[in-house]
Amino acid sequence: MATDRENYVNLFKSIFKDSVSFSDIKKTVPEEERSFFNMLFMSAFRQLTFIKTVVLPQFVKKKIPHKNEILNFILYLATTELLFLDKPDYAVINSYVDIAKSKTDKFGGNFVNAVLRNILRNRTLLLEKHNQKFFSADFLKILKQDYTPIEIEEMEHFAGIEAPLDLTFKYSAHPSIDNAILLPTGSIRLPANTKITSLDDFQEGNCWAQDAASAIPVRCLGELKGKKVLDICAAPGGKTAQLLDAGATVTAVDISEKRLVKLKENIERLGLSKNLNTLCYNALDLDINEKFDVILLDAPCSATGTFRRHPEIMNTKTIEDVKKQADLQRKILKHCAIFLKSNGLIVYATCSLAKAEGEKQIKTFVKECPDFCVVPIKLKGTEKMQTKEGFLRILPQYLREFSGIDGFFVAVLKRKI
Ligand SMILES: C[S@@+](CC[C@H](N)C(=O)[O-])C[C@H]1O[C@@H](n2cnc3c(N)ncnc32)[C@H](O)[C@@H]1O
Repeated sequence: MATDRENYVNLFKSIFKDSVSFSDIKKTVPEEERSFFNMLFMSAFRQLTFIKTVVLPQFVKKKIPHKNEILNFILYLATTELLFLDKPDYAVINSYVDIAKSKTDKFGGNFVNAVLRNILRNRTLLLEKHNQKFFSADFLKILKQDYTPIEIEEMEHFAGIEAPLDLTFKYSAHPSIDNAILLPTGSIRLPANTKITSLDDFQEGNCWAQDAASAIPVRCLGELKGKKVLDICAAPGGKTAQLLDAGATVTAVDISEKRLVKLKENIERLGLSKNLNTLCYNALDLDINEKFDVILLDAPCSATGTFRRHPEIMNTKTIEDVKKQADLQRKILKHCAIFLKSNGLIVYATCSLAKAEGEKQIKTFVKECPDFCVVPIKLKGTEKMQTKEGFLRILPQYLREFSGIDGFFVAVLKRKI
Protein backbone atom coordinates (compact mmCIF):
# COMPACT_ATOMS: atom_id res chain seq x y z
CA MET A 1 0.00 0.00 0.00
CA ALA A 2 2.86 2.42 0.81
CA THR A 3 4.01 2.49 -2.81
CA ASP A 4 0.46 3.14 -4.06
CA ARG A 5 0.17 6.04 -1.65
CA GLU A 6 3.50 7.43 -2.79
CA ASN A 7 2.21 7.41 -6.35
CA TYR A 8 -1.03 9.07 -5.20
CA VAL A 9 0.88 11.88 -3.48
CA ASN A 10 2.76 12.56 -6.74
CA LEU A 11 -0.46 12.48 -8.74
CA PHE A 12 -2.26 14.77 -6.31
CA LYS A 13 0.59 17.24 -6.49
CA SER A 14 0.60 17.19 -10.30
CA ILE A 15 -3.06 18.27 -10.40
CA PHE A 16 -2.15 21.47 -8.56
CA LYS A 17 1.37 22.09 -9.77
CA ASP A 18 1.23 20.89 -13.38
CA SER A 19 -2.50 21.45 -14.09
CA VAL A 20 -2.95 17.80 -15.06
CA SER A 21 -6.65 16.95 -15.18
CA PHE A 22 -8.12 14.55 -12.64
CA SER A 23 -9.87 12.56 -15.36
CA ASP A 24 -6.55 12.04 -17.20
CA ILE A 25 -4.87 10.98 -13.97
CA LYS A 26 -7.59 8.47 -13.14
CA LYS A 27 -6.80 6.59 -16.34
CA THR A 28 -3.18 6.02 -15.21
CA VAL A 29 -4.23 4.17 -12.06
CA PRO A 30 -4.50 0.36 -12.35
CA GLU A 31 -8.09 -0.94 -12.47
CA GLU A 32 -7.80 -2.84 -9.17
CA GLU A 33 -6.77 0.34 -7.29
CA ARG A 34 -9.34 2.66 -8.85
CA SER A 35 -12.08 2.34 -6.28
CA PHE A 36 -9.87 3.34 -3.31
CA PHE A 37 -8.00 5.92 -5.39
CA ASN A 38 -11.25 7.55 -6.48
CA MET A 39 -12.66 7.61 -2.96
CA LEU A 40 -9.42 9.13 -1.59
CA PHE A 41 -9.15 11.85 -4.23
CA MET A 42 -12.85 12.76 -4.26
CA SER A 43 -12.81 13.07 -0.45
CA ALA A 44 -9.56 15.05 -0.52
CA PHE A 45 -10.94 17.50 -3.11
CA ARG A 46 -14.14 17.94 -1.11
CA GLN A 47 -12.34 18.46 2.17
CA LEU A 48 -9.25 20.37 1.02
CA THR A 49 -10.50 23.81 2.05
CA PHE A 50 -11.39 22.55 5.54
CA ILE A 51 -8.05 20.73 5.82
CA LYS A 52 -6.02 23.72 4.62
CA THR A 53 -7.82 26.47 6.50
CA VAL A 54 -9.01 24.79 9.70
CA VAL A 55 -7.18 21.53 10.43
CA LEU A 56 -3.56 22.06 9.43
CA PRO A 57 -3.11 25.63 10.75
CA GLN A 58 -3.73 24.22 14.25
CA PHE A 59 -0.78 21.84 14.02
CA VAL A 60 1.58 23.32 11.41
CA LYS A 61 2.87 26.56 12.82
CA LYS A 62 5.59 27.40 10.29
CA LYS A 63 5.34 27.66 6.51
CA ILE A 64 6.82 24.54 4.89
CA PRO A 65 9.88 25.58 2.80
CA HIS A 66 9.36 25.40 -0.97
CA LYS A 67 11.97 22.64 -1.43
CA ASN A 68 9.85 20.40 0.83
CA GLU A 69 6.44 21.38 -0.54
CA ILE A 70 5.66 17.72 -1.21
CA LEU A 71 5.02 17.54 2.56
CA ASN A 72 1.89 19.65 2.04
CA PHE A 73 0.49 17.12 -0.41
CA ILE A 74 1.41 14.26 1.92
CA LEU A 75 -0.47 16.01 4.73
CA TYR A 76 -3.54 16.70 2.56
CA LEU A 77 -4.00 13.05 1.62
CA ALA A 78 -3.03 11.67 5.02
CA THR A 79 -5.45 14.03 6.81
CA THR A 80 -8.22 13.03 4.41
CA GLU A 81 -7.65 9.40 5.28
CA LEU A 82 -7.48 9.98 9.04
CA LEU A 83 -10.57 12.18 9.20
CA PHE A 84 -12.81 10.93 6.42
CA LEU A 85 -11.91 7.39 5.37
CA ASP A 86 -12.26 4.21 7.29
CA LYS A 87 -8.65 2.94 7.23
CA PRO A 88 -6.47 1.66 10.11
CA ASP A 89 -5.02 4.82 11.71
CA TYR A 90 -1.50 3.68 12.44
CA ALA A 91 -1.03 1.99 9.08
CA VAL A 92 -2.08 5.27 7.45
CA ILE A 93 0.30 7.33 9.58
CA ASN A 94 3.23 4.96 9.04
CA SER A 95 2.77 4.92 5.26
CA TYR A 96 2.74 8.69 4.95
CA VAL A 97 5.64 9.09 7.38
CA ASP A 98 7.67 6.67 5.23
CA ILE A 99 6.82 8.68 2.11
CA ALA A 100 7.83 11.91 3.85
CA LYS A 101 11.16 10.38 4.89
CA SER A 102 11.91 9.09 1.42
CA LYS A 103 10.89 12.35 -0.30
CA THR A 104 12.65 14.71 2.14
CA ASP A 105 14.63 13.53 5.16
CA LYS A 106 14.33 12.18 8.70
CA PHE A 107 13.08 15.59 9.92
CA GLY A 108 10.34 15.63 7.27
CA GLY A 109 9.27 12.19 8.49
CA ASN A 110 9.23 13.30 12.14
CA PHE A 111 7.27 16.43 11.24
CA VAL A 112 4.56 14.48 9.38
CA ASN A 113 4.43 11.96 12.21
CA ALA A 114 3.89 14.69 14.83
CA VAL A 115 1.20 16.49 12.81
CA LEU A 116 -0.73 13.31 12.00
CA ARG A 117 -0.65 12.06 15.58
CA ASN A 118 -2.00 15.41 16.74
CA ILE A 119 -4.80 15.21 14.20
CA LEU A 120 -5.63 11.72 15.35
CA ARG A 121 -5.76 12.81 19.01
CA ASN A 122 -8.11 15.68 18.13
CA ARG A 123 -10.15 13.87 15.49
CA THR A 124 -13.53 13.91 17.22
CA LEU A 125 -13.31 17.59 18.08
CA LEU A 126 -12.13 18.53 14.58
CA LEU A 127 -15.01 16.71 12.97
CA GLU A 128 -17.53 18.21 15.40
CA LYS A 129 -16.26 21.64 14.46
CA HIS A 130 -16.37 21.12 10.70
CA ASN A 131 -17.32 24.54 9.29
CA GLN A 132 -18.97 23.12 6.14
CA LYS A 133 -16.74 25.28 3.95
CA PHE A 134 -15.70 23.59 0.70
CA PHE A 135 -15.00 26.39 -1.78
CA SER A 136 -11.40 27.59 -2.22
CA ALA A 137 -10.59 31.31 -2.18
CA ASP A 138 -10.21 31.30 -6.01
CA PHE A 139 -13.53 29.54 -6.49
CA LEU A 140 -15.23 32.03 -4.18
CA LYS A 141 -13.75 34.87 -6.22
CA ILE A 142 -15.47 33.48 -9.33
CA LEU A 143 -18.82 33.17 -7.58
CA LYS A 144 -18.65 36.54 -5.84
CA GLN A 145 -18.64 38.24 -9.22
CA ASP A 146 -22.23 37.14 -9.77
CA TYR A 147 -23.88 35.94 -6.57
CA THR A 148 -24.78 37.18 -3.10
CA PRO A 149 -23.19 35.64 0.03
CA ILE A 150 -26.49 33.88 0.78
CA GLU A 151 -26.70 32.35 -2.69
CA ILE A 152 -23.09 31.19 -2.41
CA GLU A 153 -23.72 29.67 1.00
CA GLU A 154 -26.68 27.76 -0.41
CA MET A 155 -24.54 26.43 -3.26
CA GLU A 156 -21.78 25.45 -0.86
CA HIS A 157 -24.18 23.26 1.09
CA PHE A 158 -24.34 20.94 -1.94
CA ALA A 159 -20.56 20.71 -2.19
CA GLY A 160 -20.56 18.47 0.87
CA ILE A 161 -23.15 16.08 -0.53
CA GLU A 162 -22.38 13.29 -2.97
CA ALA A 163 -24.30 13.82 -6.21
CA PRO A 164 -27.08 11.33 -6.95
CA LEU A 165 -27.26 9.30 -10.17
CA ASP A 166 -29.52 10.95 -12.75
CA LEU A 167 -30.78 9.06 -15.77
CA THR A 168 -32.43 10.12 -18.99
CA PHE A 169 -34.80 7.52 -20.42
CA LYS A 170 -35.77 7.07 -24.04
CA TYR A 171 -39.27 8.32 -24.82
CA SER A 172 -40.35 4.75 -25.58
CA ALA A 173 -39.01 3.29 -22.31
CA HIS A 174 -40.94 2.84 -19.07
CA PRO A 175 -38.56 3.01 -16.09
CA SER A 176 -38.98 0.19 -13.62
CA ILE A 177 -36.40 0.89 -10.91
CA ASP A 178 -36.86 0.69 -7.12
CA ASN A 179 -35.91 3.91 -5.23
CA ALA A 180 -36.30 6.02 -8.39
CA ILE A 181 -37.66 9.57 -8.20
CA LEU A 182 -39.14 11.37 -11.18
CA LEU A 183 -37.80 14.94 -11.05
CA PRO A 184 -39.99 17.90 -12.14
CA THR A 185 -37.69 18.42 -15.14
CA GLY A 186 -38.23 14.85 -16.41
CA SER A 187 -35.05 13.06 -15.28
CA ILE A 188 -35.06 9.94 -13.14
CA ARG A 189 -33.00 10.18 -9.94
CA LEU A 190 -31.38 7.35 -7.99
CA PRO A 191 -29.26 7.38 -4.80
CA ALA A 192 -25.61 8.45 -5.10
CA ASN A 193 -24.14 4.99 -4.56
CA THR A 194 -26.15 3.31 -7.34
CA LYS A 195 -24.06 1.28 -9.79
CA ILE A 196 -25.46 2.12 -13.20
CA THR A 197 -24.26 -1.12 -14.79
CA SER A 198 -26.35 -3.10 -12.30
CA LEU A 199 -29.57 -1.63 -13.70
CA ASP A 200 -31.57 -3.76 -16.17
CA ASP A 201 -32.79 -0.61 -17.91
CA PHE A 202 -29.19 0.44 -18.54
CA GLN A 203 -28.18 -3.04 -19.74
CA GLU A 204 -31.14 -3.05 -22.11
CA GLY A 205 -30.18 0.32 -23.62
CA ASN A 206 -33.24 2.17 -22.30
CA CYS A 207 -31.39 4.97 -20.50
CA TRP A 208 -28.11 6.79 -19.97
CA ALA A 209 -26.45 8.77 -17.17
CA GLN A 210 -26.97 12.50 -17.49
CA ASP A 211 -27.29 15.11 -14.76
CA ALA A 212 -30.81 16.52 -14.55
CA ALA A 213 -29.47 19.96 -15.53
CA SER A 214 -27.63 18.64 -18.55
CA ALA A 215 -30.84 17.04 -19.85
CA ILE A 216 -32.70 20.37 -19.87
CA PRO A 217 -31.23 22.17 -22.96
CA VAL A 218 -32.60 19.65 -25.49
CA ARG A 219 -36.00 19.63 -23.74
CA CYS A 220 -36.18 23.40 -24.38
CA LEU A 221 -36.28 22.80 -28.13
CA GLY A 222 -39.79 21.36 -28.42
CA GLU A 223 -40.65 19.17 -31.43
CA LEU A 224 -37.53 17.80 -33.14
CA LYS A 225 -38.95 15.06 -35.35
CA GLY A 226 -37.44 15.29 -38.83
CA LYS A 227 -35.29 18.32 -37.96
CA LYS A 228 -31.66 18.61 -39.02
CA VAL A 229 -29.53 19.38 -35.96
CA LEU A 230 -25.88 20.42 -35.70
CA ASP A 231 -24.63 19.27 -32.29
CA ILE A 232 -21.41 21.14 -31.53
CA CYS A 233 -19.08 19.94 -28.76
CA ALA A 234 -21.12 16.78 -28.70
CA ALA A 235 -19.06 14.11 -26.94
CA PRO A 236 -19.71 11.93 -24.99
CA GLY A 237 -23.17 12.31 -26.47
CA GLY A 238 -25.74 12.68 -23.68
CA LYS A 239 -27.52 15.43 -25.59
CA THR A 240 -26.90 13.73 -28.96
CA ALA A 241 -28.84 10.74 -27.62
CA GLN A 242 -31.74 12.99 -26.61
CA LEU A 243 -31.80 14.62 -30.06
CA LEU A 244 -31.74 11.30 -31.91
CA ASP A 245 -34.34 9.80 -29.61
CA ALA A 246 -36.60 12.80 -30.35
CA GLY A 247 -36.41 11.95 -34.08
CA ALA A 248 -33.82 14.47 -35.27
CA THR A 249 -31.07 13.82 -37.81
CA VAL A 250 -27.86 14.81 -36.08
CA THR A 251 -24.41 15.93 -37.20
CA ALA A 252 -22.30 15.65 -34.06
CA VAL A 253 -19.04 17.64 -33.98
CA ASP A 254 -16.24 17.36 -31.44
CA ILE A 255 -12.59 18.33 -31.38
CA SER A 256 -11.56 15.00 -29.88
CA GLU A 257 -11.46 11.89 -32.04
CA LYS A 258 -11.24 9.72 -28.92
CA ARG A 259 -14.31 11.31 -27.38
CA LEU A 260 -16.20 10.88 -30.66
CA VAL A 261 -15.43 7.15 -30.55
CA LYS A 262 -16.95 7.11 -27.05
CA LEU A 263 -19.96 9.05 -28.36
CA LYS A 264 -20.51 6.48 -31.13
CA GLU A 265 -20.24 3.60 -28.63
CA ASN A 266 -22.76 5.28 -26.34
CA ILE A 267 -25.22 5.93 -29.15
CA GLU A 268 -24.83 2.38 -30.50
CA ARG A 269 -25.52 0.95 -27.04
CA LEU A 270 -28.82 2.82 -27.12
CA GLY A 271 -29.62 1.66 -30.66
CA LEU A 272 -29.93 5.27 -31.86
CA SER A 273 -27.17 5.40 -34.51
CA LYS A 274 -29.42 5.45 -37.59
CA ASN A 275 -29.59 9.22 -38.10
CA LEU A 276 -26.17 10.12 -36.73
CA ASN A 277 -23.23 11.56 -38.60
CA THR A 278 -20.02 12.50 -36.73
CA LEU A 279 -17.32 15.02 -37.64
CA CYS A 280 -14.04 15.60 -35.87
CA TYR A 281 -13.43 19.35 -36.01
CA ASN A 282 -12.34 22.24 -33.90
CA ALA A 283 -15.64 24.13 -33.89
CA LEU A 284 -13.76 27.32 -34.69
CA ASP A 285 -12.65 25.81 -38.02
CA LEU A 286 -15.89 24.03 -38.86
CA ASP A 287 -16.38 24.24 -42.60
CA ILE A 288 -19.42 22.44 -44.04
CA ASN A 289 -21.65 23.33 -46.91
CA GLU A 290 -24.92 22.74 -45.10
CA LYS A 291 -27.50 24.64 -43.05
CA PHE A 292 -29.41 23.30 -40.08
CA ASP A 293 -32.83 23.81 -38.48
CA VAL A 294 -31.29 23.70 -35.03
CA ILE A 295 -27.82 24.16 -33.56
CA LEU A 296 -27.02 22.83 -30.12
CA LEU A 297 -23.88 24.42 -28.72
CA ASP A 298 -22.92 22.77 -25.43
CA ALA A 299 -19.90 25.00 -25.20
CA PRO A 300 -16.59 24.13 -23.51
CA CYS A 301 -16.59 26.03 -20.21
CA SER A 302 -15.07 26.37 -16.76
CA ALA A 303 -17.48 23.64 -15.58
CA THR A 304 -17.91 25.43 -12.25
CA GLY A 305 -21.50 24.17 -12.06
CA THR A 306 -20.34 20.56 -11.80
CA PHE A 307 -18.50 20.90 -8.49
CA ARG A 308 -20.64 18.20 -6.82
CA ARG A 309 -19.61 15.52 -9.32
CA HIS A 310 -16.14 17.00 -9.91
CA PRO A 311 -14.99 18.42 -6.56
CA GLU A 312 -11.50 19.12 -7.95
CA ILE A 313 -13.15 22.08 -9.69
CA MET A 314 -13.67 23.84 -6.34
CA ASN A 315 -9.91 23.77 -5.87
CA THR A 316 -8.48 24.35 -9.32
CA LYS A 317 -10.58 26.92 -11.23
CA THR A 318 -9.71 30.61 -11.31
CA ILE A 319 -11.19 33.77 -12.79
CA GLU A 320 -8.61 33.40 -15.58
CA ASP A 321 -10.18 30.07 -16.61
CA VAL A 322 -13.58 31.73 -16.81
CA LYS A 323 -12.20 34.54 -18.99
CA LYS A 324 -10.42 32.10 -21.29
CA GLN A 325 -13.48 29.91 -21.77
CA ALA A 326 -15.81 32.88 -22.25
CA ASP A 327 -13.57 34.11 -25.04
CA LEU A 328 -13.58 30.69 -26.73
CA GLN A 329 -17.38 30.39 -26.40
CA ARG A 330 -17.88 33.81 -27.96
CA LYS A 331 -15.79 32.82 -30.98
CA ILE A 332 -17.44 29.39 -31.40
CA LEU A 333 -20.95 30.86 -31.13
CA LYS A 334 -20.25 33.53 -33.74
CA HIS A 335 -18.62 31.09 -36.13
CA CYS A 336 -21.22 28.33 -35.84
CA ALA A 337 -24.24 30.63 -36.11
CA ILE A 338 -23.53 30.84 -39.86
CA PHE A 339 -24.69 27.23 -40.28
CA LEU A 340 -28.22 28.04 -39.09
CA LYS A 341 -31.18 28.31 -41.48
CA SER A 342 -33.43 31.33 -41.45
CA ASN A 343 -35.92 31.00 -38.55
CA GLY A 344 -33.71 28.28 -37.08
CA LEU A 345 -32.95 27.90 -33.36
CA ILE A 346 -29.70 27.80 -31.43
CA VAL A 347 -29.68 26.36 -27.96
CA TYR A 348 -26.60 27.56 -26.10
CA ALA A 349 -25.65 25.80 -22.87
CA THR A 350 -22.77 25.77 -20.41
CA CYS A 351 -22.31 23.93 -17.12
CA SER A 352 -20.83 27.09 -15.63
CA LEU A 353 -22.10 29.23 -12.79
CA ALA A 354 -20.23 32.27 -14.10
CA LYS A 355 -22.50 34.76 -15.86
CA ALA A 356 -19.64 35.70 -18.20
CA GLU A 357 -20.16 32.24 -19.73
CA GLY A 358 -23.95 32.55 -19.72
CA GLU A 359 -26.17 35.61 -19.37
CA LYS A 360 -23.47 38.14 -20.30
CA GLN A 361 -22.26 36.07 -23.24
CA ILE A 362 -25.72 35.86 -24.79
CA LYS A 363 -26.66 39.46 -24.12
CA THR A 364 -23.50 40.57 -25.94
CA PHE A 365 -24.18 38.16 -28.80
CA VAL A 366 -27.70 39.46 -29.51
CA LYS A 367 -26.46 43.03 -29.25
CA GLU A 368 -23.73 42.34 -31.81
CA CYS A 369 -25.87 40.12 -34.07
CA PRO A 370 -29.23 41.82 -34.59
CA ASP A 371 -30.41 38.91 -36.83
CA PHE A 372 -30.90 36.95 -33.62
CA CYS A 373 -33.40 37.28 -30.78
CA VAL A 374 -33.86 35.45 -27.49
CA VAL A 375 -36.74 32.96 -27.36
CA PRO A 376 -37.95 32.88 -23.74
CA ILE A 377 -37.79 29.38 -22.26
CA LYS A 378 -41.05 28.20 -20.70
CA LEU A 379 -40.26 24.54 -20.05
CA LYS A 380 -42.43 22.82 -17.42
CA GLY A 381 -40.55 22.15 -14.19
CA THR A 382 -38.04 24.98 -14.73
CA GLU A 383 -40.22 27.86 -13.45
CA LYS A 384 -37.81 28.76 -10.61
CA MET A 385 -34.88 28.77 -13.03
CA GLN A 386 -36.33 31.19 -15.59
CA THR A 387 -34.75 34.64 -15.70
CA LYS A 388 -36.42 37.88 -16.70
CA GLU A 389 -34.45 37.81 -19.99
CA GLY A 390 -35.97 34.42 -20.88
CA PHE A 391 -32.88 32.31 -20.05
CA LEU A 392 -32.54 29.45 -17.60
CA ARG A 393 -30.08 30.03 -14.78
CA ILE A 394 -29.87 26.71 -12.97
CA LEU A 395 -28.30 26.83 -9.51
CA PRO A 396 -27.38 23.75 -7.45
CA GLN A 397 -29.98 24.68 -4.81
CA TYR A 398 -32.93 24.73 -7.24
CA LEU A 399 -33.84 21.09 -6.72
CA ARG A 400 -33.02 21.38 -3.02
CA GLU A 401 -35.75 19.01 -1.90
CA PHE A 402 -34.31 16.31 -4.20
CA SER A 403 -30.66 16.99 -3.13
CA GLY A 404 -29.67 19.55 -5.77
CA ILE A 405 -28.72 19.74 -9.42
CA ASP A 406 -25.64 20.81 -11.40
CA GLY A 407 -25.21 24.53 -12.08
CA PHE A 408 -26.06 25.30 -15.71
CA PHE A 409 -27.05 28.05 -18.10
CA VAL A 410 -29.38 27.66 -21.10
CA ALA A 411 -30.53 30.15 -23.73
CA VAL A 412 -32.55 29.65 -26.92
CA LEU A 413 -31.91 32.05 -29.80
CA LYS A 414 -33.76 32.41 -33.08
CA ARG A 415 -32.42 33.66 -36.41
CA LYS A 416 -35.00 36.18 -37.53
CA ILE A 417 -33.92 36.36 -41.17
C1 LIG B 1 -19.28 19.80 -21.99
S1 LIG B 1 -18.58 18.61 -23.03
C2 LIG B 1 -19.95 18.28 -24.04
C3 LIG B 1 -20.93 17.32 -23.47
C4 LIG B 1 -21.89 16.79 -24.50
N1 LIG B 1 -22.56 17.82 -25.26
C5 LIG B 1 -22.94 15.90 -23.87
O1 LIG B 1 -24.07 16.30 -23.67
O2 LIG B 1 -22.60 14.74 -23.59
C6 LIG B 1 -17.60 19.60 -24.05
C7 LIG B 1 -17.03 18.91 -25.29
O3 LIG B 1 -16.50 19.95 -26.09
C8 LIG B 1 -15.41 19.44 -26.81
N2 LIG B 1 -14.64 20.62 -27.27
C9 LIG B 1 -13.85 21.43 -26.54
N3 LIG B 1 -13.35 22.42 -27.31
C10 LIG B 1 -13.85 22.22 -28.56
C11 LIG B 1 -13.70 22.89 -29.79
N4 LIG B 1 -12.94 23.98 -29.90
N5 LIG B 1 -14.33 22.41 -30.87
C12 LIG B 1 -15.10 21.29 -30.80
N6 LIG B 1 -15.28 20.61 -29.65
C13 LIG B 1 -14.67 21.07 -28.54
C14 LIG B 1 -14.70 18.56 -25.82
O4 LIG B 1 -13.89 17.60 -26.48
C15 LIG B 1 -15.89 17.94 -25.07
O5 LIG B 1 -16.21 16.70 -25.62
